[in-house]
Amino acid sequence: MHDIINQLEQKREQARQGGGARRIENQHAKGKLTARERIDLFLDPDSFEERDMFVEHRSSDFGMDQQTIAGDGVVTGFGTVNGRLVFVFSQDFTVFGGSLSESHAEKICKIMDQAMKVGAPVVGLNDSGGARIQEGIASLAGYAEVFQRNVMASGVIPQVSMIMGPCAGGAVYSPAMTDFIFMVKDSSYMFVTGPDVVKTVTHEEVTHEELGGATTHTQTSGVADKAFEDDVDALLQLRRFIDFMPANNRQKPPLRPTTDPHNRAEPSLDTLIPDNPNKPYDMMELITKLLDEGDFFQLQPDYAGNIITGFGRIEGSTVGIVANQPLVLAGCLDISSSIKAARFVRYCDCFNIPLITLVDVPGFLPGTAQEYSGIIKHGAKLLYAYAEATVPKVTVITRKAYGGAYDVMSSTHLRGDVNYAWPSAEIAVMGSKGAVEIIFRQDIGDAEKIENRTEEYRKQFANPFIAGHRGFIDDVIMPHNTRARVSRSLRMLRDKKLENPWRKHGNIPL
Ligand code: HXC
Repeated sequence: MHDIINQLEQKREQARQGGGARRIENQHAKGKLTARERIDLFLDPDSFEERDMFVEHRSSDFGMDQQTIAGDGVVTGFGTVNGRLVFVFSQDFTVFGGSLSESHAEKICKIMDQAMKVGAPVVGLNDSGGARIQEGIASLAGYAEVFQRNVMASGVIPQVSMIMGPCAGGAVYSPAMTDFIFMVKDSSYMFVTGPDVVKTVTHEEVTHEELGGATTHTQTSGVADKAFEDDVDALLQLRRFIDFMPANNRQKPPLRPTTDPHNRAEPSLDTLIPDNPNKPYDMMELITKLLDEGDFFQLQPDYAGNIITGFGRIEGSTVGIVANQPLVLAGCLDISSSIKAARFVRYCDCFNIPLITLVDVPGFLPGTAQEYSGIIKHGAKLLYAYAEATVPKVTVITRKAYGGAYDVMSSTHLRGDVNYAWPSAEIAVMGSKGAVEIIFRQDIGDAEKIENRTEEYRKQFANPFIAGHRGFIDDVIMPHNTRARVSRSLRMLRDKKLENPWRKHGNIPL
C-alpha cells in the first residue's frame, strides 16, 4: 500500500513536470505559460479537478515505448469560472510538442462526453504540433473522434477555442467547429498547410505569422473572433467571456447583479445622429450607453467593421448585439459582414441569448467584387439566421433602413418581436437620391430639378411614419429613452415561446 502511494506521488509529480525543466524553460522563453499554469489562471483557485493524469500513449514505433510521459501532452478536467462549471483541456507543448496521439485524443473526448452529459461548456487551450507523427493514422482517427464530438456538441453546449501556440494541418478543424476562436498575439498561428508546403506548391514566401498569425485571422480571414496581448490577458478575458455564456442550450445565461438603472436616460443620444444623413457617427456610442455599465465584449472588432457584434448585459442578463456601423462602408452589408453577423445570430439563437439589433443600413454593397463572390448567397445567410431565430428579438432603427437590408436586419416581418425607430429613422425602399434618379430619369441632366425632387421624396418617405402607419414599427422612441424601452421589451419577452416547424434541419445557404 505504502509502495503504491509512493508510486502514485511519483507519477503525479512526473505528470506535473510535463516535458521537463528544459522544455518548460523554452516555453517560458517564448512568452508562453505551461498547460497547467494556463488552467490555474483560467479557473477559480483550487477548483480544478484533473482527469486521466496517468494516461500514457500506447505507441512503440520509433522508440516511443522508451518515451512515455504521464498525461501524454494534454491536461484535462473540469473546474469553475466564477463558480460555474466548465470543462477544459490544455495541450502541453512541452510533451511531444503537444502533439495529438490516440490517448491524447481519448482524454479530450472523455471530457467532451462528460460535458455533454452534464451540460457545461468545453474550453480548449490549444498548443500543439498537430498529429503525433510517430503514431500516424491512429492520431488521425483521434482527431476525427474529436471532430465528431465537436459537431454533436454544436448548439448543445458552448465550445470555445483559445489558440495559444501552433495549430496546424487538419488539427485546425476542431477549433473551426467550435463556437468561438480566440488567439494570442505573436505566439499563436493556425493554417491548413504551413509556409514550406505553400512555398513548394504556390512559390509564395510567407512567414508563419503572415500566413496564420493572430493579425491575419482577426483582420483578413475572419477565422478568429479576437486576439489578446499575451497568455495572461487571454485567460483573464476568457474568464470574462465565459461569464456571458449559458451552461447549455436548455438554460438561460447567468444573471449578474447590476446597479445600473434599467431606465437610465442618456440625453446625449438625442444628438448622436448628425443633421446630414450622409455623415457617419459611431454606433459604439449607442451600444455602450445602452448596456449595463457600458460593458461590451466585442467580437471580431478588426474584421468586417461595417457590422458590430458582441455580448453585453441588460438588467444583468446577457444580450447579443448586432449593429450596423456607419463609420465603415457607411454601414452597408457586404459578404464578410453578412457571414459575421449570421454566425453570431445563430449562436445567440442556439443558446437562448436575446438579440438586440441596431439598424443604420443603406443597403447591400454594390459592385462586381461582391456579386462575383456571391453576395446573393452570403447575404441570404443573415436573412436566414434572423428568420429562423426564435429568441427574443428587439430592433431599433436609428437612421437608414433601406431596401432588402431593412428586411434582413431583424425586421418585424422576420418575426422581430419589438421594432422601434428613432425620429431620425428613414425606412424606405432606397435612398432618396437613388429613388429620384430612377423615377425621374428624364430629369437627370437638370441638377436643380433632381435636387427639388430629392427633397420632396425625402420629406415624403425618409421618416419613420410610413412604416409606422403599417405597423411595421411598434413605436417611435426618443433616443435618450432607448435603454428604458429596450429593457422593458426584454422583460416582456422573458418567457417568449416560439417554435419552428419540425424538420431534420434547415438548409441554410452555405
Ligand atoms: C511528434 C512533435 C510534433 C509532432 C513537434 N514535436 N511536433 N512530436 N509529433 N507532430 C516535438 C518535436 O520533436 C520536439 O521534441 C518538440 O515537439 C518541440 O518541437 P520543436 O520543433 O523543437 O518546436 P518549435 O521549433 O517551436 O516548432 C514547433 C512546430 C514544429 C512548428 C510545431 O515542431 C513542427 O513543424 N512540427 C511538425 C508539425 C506537423 O507537421 N504536424 C503534423 C501535421 S499533419 P523534443 O523532444 O525535441 O522536445 C496533422 C494532420 C492532422 O496534424 C489531421 C487531422 C485530420
